[in-house]
Parts: sequence; C-alpha cells; structure tokens
Amino acid sequence: MAELLKNFFLTLSNNRTLNAGAQKFGLKLGAQSVVAGTNIDEAIETIRHLNEQGIEATIDNLGEFVHDRAEATAAKEQILAVVEAIHASGVQSHISIKPSQVGLDIDYDFCLENVLEIAEKAYEYGIFINLDQENYSRLHPTFSILEAVHAKYPGIVGTVIQAYFHEAMDNLEKYSDYRLRIVKGAYKEPADVAYTDKADIDANYVKLLEYSLLHAKYTSVATHDHTIIAHIKKFVKEHDISNDKFEFQMLYGFRSDMQKELAKEGYHFTTYVPFGEDWYGYFMRRLAERPQNLALVTKQVFNK
Ligand code: FDA
Repeated sequence: MAELLKNFFLTLSNNRTLNAGAQKFGLKLGAQSVVAGTNIDEAIETIRHLNEQGIEATIDNLGEFVHDRAEATAAKEQILAVVEAIHASGVQSHISIKPSQVGLDIDYDFCLENVLEIAEKAYEYGIFINLDQENYSRLHPTFSILEAVHAKYPGIVGTVIQAYFHEAMDNLEKYSDYRLRIVKGAYKEPADVAYTDKADIDANYVKLLEYSLLHAKYTSVATHDHTIIAHIKKFVKEHDISNDKFEFQMLYGFRSDMQKELAKEGYHFTTYVPFGEDWYGYFMRRLAERPQNLALVTKQVFNK
C-alpha cells in the first residue's frame, strides 16, 4: 500500500497539466504548511524567524517543468532577485537551485550561462549556491555545471549526493572537496540505476554519511529520519568530528520541534525554505515520501 501511494504521488508530481492548474490555485491542499509563502518578502520573513532560533536557511524559489527559454530566463531573474534580497536583508541564508528551472531541459550551454550569471552575483556577496539534484537523466549534466561554476567562482557552489543511486559512493569520492548535501533521493528511478528497496537505500545512506563525515570537506546530513540522526550524533562523538565539519538539514514545515532542538543542542542546522507559486511538484514529492503527510492536507481542508 505504501509503495502504491508513493508511486501514485510521484506520478502526480510529473503531471504538467495539474502543475499549471495548481499555480492558478494559490497555496492550497495543505501546501502552505510546507511552503514559506508565494513571494520573496514572505520567505525572508520566515528565514528571519528561523535565524532568531539559531537556524540558517537555504532558499528555493520553486520552479519545475520549464521547457522554454523565456520561462527559464524569468526564473533566473527571480533567483537573482532572491540573492539581492538575502544580501539586502542580511539574513543567514544560501540558495538552492534546480538546474531544470534555469534551462537544463532546453539546452545545456544556455543553462550553464544562467547558473554562471547567478553565481557571479552570489560570489560578489559571498552567498553559497547548492545545485539540487533531480532525476537520473540530469545527474551528470548537473555535476558538469558544478565543475564549470567552481572553476570560475571557487568555493561558491556545492551539490547533492542521492543515496539511492548505485554510483553514489563513486560520486561522493569524486566530489568530496565540495560542500555536499547527502540525501536518500526523492525521484522515481529504475532499478538499473538505483536501489528501490528502502532498507538498501537507508544502508547506503548511512555508509555515505559516515564516509563523508570522515573524508569530505563539509557534510550536510539532510534527513528527517530520527534513527539516522541519532546514529550520526553517536558517530561524530566516537570519531571526534567537530561541529564545524557538518550540519543537519531538514525541509521547512517538517519536524519543526526537532529542528529547534538540534540547533539548541549546538549543532549547525539549516532549514530548506521553498517559496513561490510553483509548489505543486515539490508538494507531491513530499506526499510520496511520507503518505502520513496527507494528514497535513486533510487538516487544512477540514479546518476551513
Ligand atoms: P524517510 O522519509 O525515509 O523517513 C524515515 C523515517 O523518519 C520515517 O519512517 C519516520 O519514522 C520518520 N519521519 C520522516 N519524516 C517525518 C516527519 N515529518 N514526522 C515524523 N517522523 C518522520 N532529494 C533529492 O532527490 N534531491 C535533492 O536535492 C534533495 N534535497 C533535499 C534537501 C533537504 C534539506 C532534505 C531534508 C531532503 C532533500 N531531498 C532531496 C529529499 C530526500 O531525498 C528524501 O526524499 C526525503 O528527505 C525523505 O527522506 P528522509 O531521509 O527524510 O526520511
């Protein structure tokens, strides 16, 4: 049943027509609990509040299904405005970008130009950029963009390692000089490239985290999984790994009490703060990960 629901929501997440409809709809279906508003000012206000609790942010101006240049250029302009807003407001935040949002599915060079333009501004202000990883067909193009941006603006960019991919450890070893966010993986992938069994994904996830904590430059442990968080807390203690070498990350609106608690315990903590009108795909993937998130929907629908 859980697998059926997961596939159901992942299929919905790829539906362009529903995505377009949802944009007209405003923040509905419970999405407002996990999306920090539809405009930059609301997102900056949310981040200010997180900063007051000792939590930093990474901000994602939501956007998917971008298949024409005008849309990709508009997305790039919006992201540049976000970089300006972070700088002007002085909030503690970096940015997360999905390469497909700025043209990866249209043309690689066009996308790279867009990311480089964002990186130029971010570099000027010292604002870090994380290139989010999407599905398998975009994995290697995203690594290429990572390398190209790093060559021009050293240290300003990092990316994500998704534990469900068979090649995840090879990629982790190759990119361990970058700041890396390690996650389990959120997209629907075939068995020839990815583990599909949850126990296998979890085991690989722990293996990657341990390797990264011991060898990589900086590790973002991005999970809501309390068992794995407890394991990592024990692991860093046993191996005398200082708090400057890693952080925990979670998504906005999920396990908020645990987020505050980890920050209070003295761990670096970053909350992933998505905002914007294009919330549909993001929200469907969250429902796929944890069908209990449906409770968010029913609560919103019936509390009206
Ligand atoms: P998982 O969903 O496996 O849950 C494990 C257990 O934790 C559950 O069984 C439950 O007991 C508990 N739990 C989980 N959520 C809970 C909740 N809300 N309340 C109570 N208990 C809960 N993916 C990707 O492909 N590319 C990317 O770039 C990113 N980026 C990213 C950034 C950040 C900050 C995060 C946290 C995640 C991502 N992801 C991602 C998503 C990631 O790949 C993954 O799909 C989700 O984090 C879900 O997996 P978890 O490790 O959180 O736990």
